[in-house]
Amino acid sequence: MIRMIVDCDPGHDDAIALMLAHRWADVRAVTTVSGNAPLAATTENALLVMALLGADAPVYAGADRPLVAEARHATAVHGESGLEGARRFDHGRAVADGHAVDQLIALADADTWVVALGPLTNLALAIERDPSWPQRVAGISLMGGSTSFGNVTRVAEFNIWADPEAAARVFGCGANIIQCGLNLTHQLCTDGATTQRLSARGTAVASFAADILASLHERLRQLAGRDDAPLHDPCAVLALTHPHLMETASRAVSVELRGDLTRGMTVTDERTSRRRDAPNVNVAYRIDAERATDVVLEALLA
Ligand code: BDR
Ligand code: CA
Repeated sequence: MIRMIVDCDPGHDDAIALMLAHRWADVRAVTTVSGNAPLAATTENALLVMALLGADAPVYAGADRPLVAEARHATAVHGESGLEGARRFDHGRAVADGHAVDQLIALADADTWVVALGPLTNLALAIERDPSWPQRVAGISLMGGSTSFGNVTRVAEFNIWADPEAAARVFGCGANIIQCGLNLTHQLCTDGATTQRLSARGTAVASFAADILASLHERLRQLAGRDDAPLHDPCAVLALTHPHLMETASRAVSVELRGDLTRGMTVTDERTSRRRDAPNVNVAYRIDAERATDVVLEALLA
């Protein structure tokens, strides 16, 4: 089983990603970051999901604000709690001692991947503190950015937009990086049929997943008039656990920090000429959505 640290900001799709990681990978630790909601909320949500799963991996809290930008959250999609619709219970879990960044550094080894599902602040701080870190991990599989459209601005995706300086440091760090951006994640969606199947199963995990996905679908119906929801973060887990379901290509990717219209955009070099810049990222372009959905459901229905 592939070994990973999951750095996340749960978050509905982060929660589903944790469920997938629990089923299909060896999760060494979960680290949390401010993103979809403030750090205290994303950490509590991570503890809740890990307790629901009966998973032993420790949860470490990390950065409570971006490197430079002001903290801004995705309340419109995930609610004030970051995990609207979740059935809360007294989980009795406590956050582990130690800072997430110290743990990212301490747990780094050649067989351990970092799966990054929120703003890249913790990873950027790890690189700042230990410049050898990018070469000491197996790689970084991240959900962030896009080769095409954005979701916060016309061109910027939330995780990159929320902390562009951190993202620029990570994309430029020389690690083995897999990028699952919006161009990919919009190919893998859940809808009412998914929530019905999960509700009918009736296990604690399936019911929890059904509840949070139903809430996410309702938010997106109001915000975007759509009846489904892209499963962004699970793609970054699947890129490692089920790589045969994805097509990737090596590209030069940089993060725009300055443009009035483009701050927080990932800029992908898709030129076909020899002028193309040296690649630094494996960009995911296609996912076999049908088979990936089966893999997701297998984990949630287990
Ligand atoms: C990303 O932003 C967050 O709202 C989701 O959890 C996902 O990581 C999608 O843009
Ligand atoms: Ca996320």
